[in-house]
Amino acid sequence: TTLGASAAARDGRVFGTAVAAGKLSDSAYTTILDREFNAVTPENEMKIDATEPQQNVFTYTNADRIVAHAVAAGQKVRGHTLAWHSQQPGWMQSMSGSALRSAMINHITQVMTHFKGKITWWDVVNEAYADSGGGRRSSNLQSTGNDWIEVAFKTARAADPNAKLCYNDYNTDNWSAAKTQGVYSMVKDFKARGVPIDCVGFQTHLTGGSSYPSNYRTTLSSFAALGVDVHITELDITNAPTGAYTSVVNDCLAVARCTDITVWGIRDSDSWRSGESPLLFTSSGAKKAAYTAVLTALNNG
Ligand code: G3I
Repeated sequence: TTLGASAAARDGRVFGTAVAAGKLSDSAYTTILDREFNAVTPENEMKIDATEPQQNVFTYTNADRIVAHAVAAGQKVRGHTLAWHSQQPGWMQSMSGSALRSAMINHITQVMTHFKGKITWWDVVNEAYADSGGGRRSSNLQSTGNDWIEVAFKTARAADPNAKLCYNDYNTDNWSAAKTQGVYSMVKDFKARGVPIDCVGFQTHLTGGSSYPSNYRTTLSSFAALGVDVHITELDITNAPTGAYTSVVNDCLAVARCTDITVWGIRDSDSWRSGESPLLFTSSGAKKAAYTAVLTALNNG
């Protein structure tokens, strides 16, 4: 079987990967992509600098290419990402206040309207929490007012009512971390006040087997209990230890609302973490031990 087929057999879960438009002409790449995965996330092509390089001038060529490939292959698409402090185009980096707030709203509306009906989940807001302390990260977006995140979600719901709207962040795997608790409080507050949010993405960039958080399942189940789906959105683990990969899959399978596991690239050579061999396929496209561990967990876990 394959990662996607085995995930689908577990109550319709998806097993996805980050995809780069520039690699869709590499048949070794697309052979694995189309055989193994039933969901994709554009790695860079839907980011703000890619889709709105000049204010109110939108370019979708590379993102459209990924969406077209995914549609042809029967893969769902996760949009990534609409509001983020990083990878902002130059014009946005130098903006602040109400002009930036308006630009964010316009960006979300325009991009979601372009892709309406083709995107299953959107990472509406990415990485808005600080690495320590449990509060918000400083950024030009945060300086427009603490309500910028809920404004982003309300704008997104209006733009495409059928898309599932997610908050996505890293280092939110460990339930005891202040950052995890900060995000949890925000989601709890949003649900209590009716701010539209459907899912929370846990990027899960882990640095090795020993860094695997033993309370990861508690993190996933606690967020799920708030009434959101939980997604593992950018999984990669330094040196791809089989034990840690198995644990991630088993912890997801144990939580009914953990419906998506996405790895951040196909082959080690496709990874942003060059030299760390964190993925499921070797640079030449062979299945690694971690691949077999993940597939076994999906089938039997
Ligand atoms: O496309 C240009 C190319 O024209 C240029 O010659 C080259 C020179 O450096 O840069 C290329 O752009 C790079 C781009 O990846 C495409 O390869 C950027 O410099 C580089 O910064 C960018 O890195 C991406 C990174 O996000 C940027 O923040 C990684 O590919 C991507 O994997 C990574 O993904 C993020 C998620 O979006 C959010 N979570 C963390 C994750 C890892 O950092």
